[in-house]
Amino acid sequence: MLTAPHPSSAPANALNFKWPAEGIARAPYRLFTDPEIYKLEQERIFRGRSWNYLCLDVEIPKAGDYRTTVIGETPVIVTRDHDGEVHAMVNRCAHKGALVCLKKQDNVASLTCVYHAWNYGLDGQLKGVAFRNGLRGQGGMPNDFDVAKHRLQPIRTQNFYGIVFGTFSDEIEDVETYLGPDMAQFIKRNLDRPLCVLGTHSQTIHNNWKLYAENLRDSYHATLLHTFYTTFKVNRLDMDGGIILSDEKWHHVSFARRAKLQEAAERGDTLTASA
Ligand code: FES
Repeated sequence: MLTAPHPSSAPANALNFKWPAEGIARAPYRLFTDPEIYKLEQERIFRGRSWNYLCLDVEIPKAGDYRTTVIGETPVIVTRDHDGEVHAMVNRCAHKGALVCLKKQDNVASLTCVYHAWNYGLDGQLKGVAFRNGLRGQGGMPNDFDVAKHRLQPIRTQNFYGIVFGTFSDEIEDVETYLGPDMAQFIKRNLDRPLCVLGTHSQTIHNNWKLYAENLRDSYHATLLHTFYTTFKVNRLDMDGGIILSDEKWHHVSFARRAKLQEAAERGDTLTASA
């Protein structure tokens, strides 16, 4: 349940924030609006010790394919190089921070920043600098300028059953351990076959990111708000369902299990009526 900030909440830390005495079932509105908390989330969650979904492996099948995405607020490029290897890097030019890739997806020989045309390989290594040696002996980069020191910031990736995940953390465990056995088995079961992308749909929701994360764990609203579930009997009251949490409670699966015919209420009614 969401609550307005309580006047008796005493300062407890640098954020002047104290969790309500009722415990974790009370999430103060401030969690969804405070810019300082948001800043810390970007640093500690999205740029911290977490694996983030980047794209599907099949979305970049050919050498030179790239897709752009975000990790939190950080713009990201995911590429496939000529050896078939997938790379991810921050989509900010090493020169002055401009976006290097502007499209959602494309196929390119290399990555070129539109601002001053610095050129990067598909692995994010800097290859070329416009006017590096100046013009007619004038200007240019200093002699000790080293292209190896000015690459696009790399992001560690792992392909898990066709899903490309990325992380800023060097210490985090592999994706399967991160997800835990209960969560990983659902991905394995659903993605143990070749995938074909039929299309994509995206929607921008203007709210704090946690509202959507929290909404996905709120099965209470499912049949009340999304009435197509009941209209088309996708979800019925005689179905078993629930939410499974990983050990650390970071991940979840929400499920509904189809009722067997023998267990269905109307089957019982029919048997009674015909007896
Ligand atoms: S900002 Fe990219 S080349 Fe200058």
